[in-house]
Amino acid sequence: MKLFLDTAVYEEIKAGVDWGVIDGVTTNPTLIAKAGHDHEEQVKKICQIIGNVSAEVVSETKDDMIVEGKRLASWHPNVIVKVPMTPDGLAAGKALAASGIRINVTLCFSVNQALLAAAIGAYIVSPFAGRLDDINEDGMRVVADIVSAYRQQSIKTKVLAASIRTPMHVTQAALAGADISTLPFAVLKALFNHPLTEAGQKRFLEDYRKTQEPQKVKA
Ligand code: E4P
Repeated sequence: MKLFLDTAVYEEIKAGVDWGVIDGVTTNPTLIAKAGHDHEEQVKKICQIIGNVSAEVVSETKDDMIVEGKRLASWHPNVIVKVPMTPDGLAAGKALAASGIRINVTLCFSVNQALLAAAIGAYIVSPFAGRLDDINEDGMRVVADIVSAYRQQSIKTKVLAASIRTPMHVTQAALAGADISTLPFAVLKALFNHPLTEAGQKRFLEDYRKTQEPQKVKA
């Protein structure tokens, strides 16, 4: 499972890239607004350091989404155009996919919606696990069911577990067979943590320093 960052904050993406652990980024209008930068400028800047950057359309009709999707895709070859799981969104996604643009269908909450995304030739479908949990449904069950339905149907669309809230979600997405999981920066950082790693590293460094002390005395 590839790890993406779910943010438009450049410094967070740069850190993830420098650690060597991320393969892409997902943005949405909310994340762009939070980052507080011009959409085009920010997406182009992110594309300089990482591939697979999802940028979302905000138009509401099929024709407008097609025009906007083409504009987003023209910003950089790393852009994946995100369209919503609506009739207009999917119709626009189909036309954009037919012109060779990679499509991420967002706001997916069921297996049937994921089948619709596959039907238009989407490159990625994004089931939102956390938002399903928020309304007392089992988000990761839906991710697992989409993976299973896609495997049974030999569907190539990638399953991207989105709306990830906890490190446990990441483990569950991997065990469910998701192709990608997109994480807020805080969750990515939390993946490194384990008390035994921290205690073990502290001990190794202390023991190493002890071996250096006699040499210092000799010198
Ligand atoms: C995915 O592409 C979305 O940007 C994201 O995961 C939404 O997560 P949220 O439910 O935490 O807003």
